[in-house]
Amino acid sequence: MATSGSGKKKSDRKKDDKNDLAKKLPFATRHDLSDATRTKVVAALNQTLAEIFDLQSQIKQAHWNVKGASFFGLHKLFDEIAGTLTEPVDTVAERILSLGGFAKGSVRLAAAASTLPELPAEFRQEDIVGDIADRVALAAKLARKRIDDTEDAGDKVSSDLLIEITAILDKALYFLEAYQFRA
Ligand SMILES: [Fe+2]
Repeated sequence: MATSGSGKKKSDRKKDDKNDLAKKLPFATRHDLSDATRTKVVAALNQTLAEIFDLQSQIKQAHWNVKGASFFGLHKLFDEIAGTLTEPVDTVAERILSLGGFAKGSVRLAAAASTLPELPAEFRQEDIVGDIADRVALAAKLARKRIDDTEDAGDKVSSDLLIEITAILDKALYFLEAYQFRA
């Protein structure tokens, strides 16, 4: 069995490295918020980054593959909503770095961490607005919870950023539900 000097297996040491990255902040900073605050907030922001990046890619998937009588309106609506998430993705990632964290922002890292359900590979056209609305609503619910979590942790600036993101998601949900409206 391959062991290191510390007597641990190589695979265990790799696991330890991963756990350390989750628990500790990797970068030193002059930032005045405490390590404990920044550690909690970085975890919350990385989770938000994963969800809104995943959400944006799922909405783009809908934008490209939607068909039918409502094609043009939905094609444009999905693109507009996806576009509103471009800046928040970048802002959240950079806030994580401002706090001394590591942004887990690659497609693979985000997809692995996102808790949003995946859009069916070949979605049913009649379900697509509802499918996207479900995911937007869930992302908004998760972001809204973190408004309080990050404020309670002691970081009002990150909390404020999450308010902005939640407002964007709430507006996207309003657009999608208005589209689905049946009198
Ligand atoms: Fe496009």
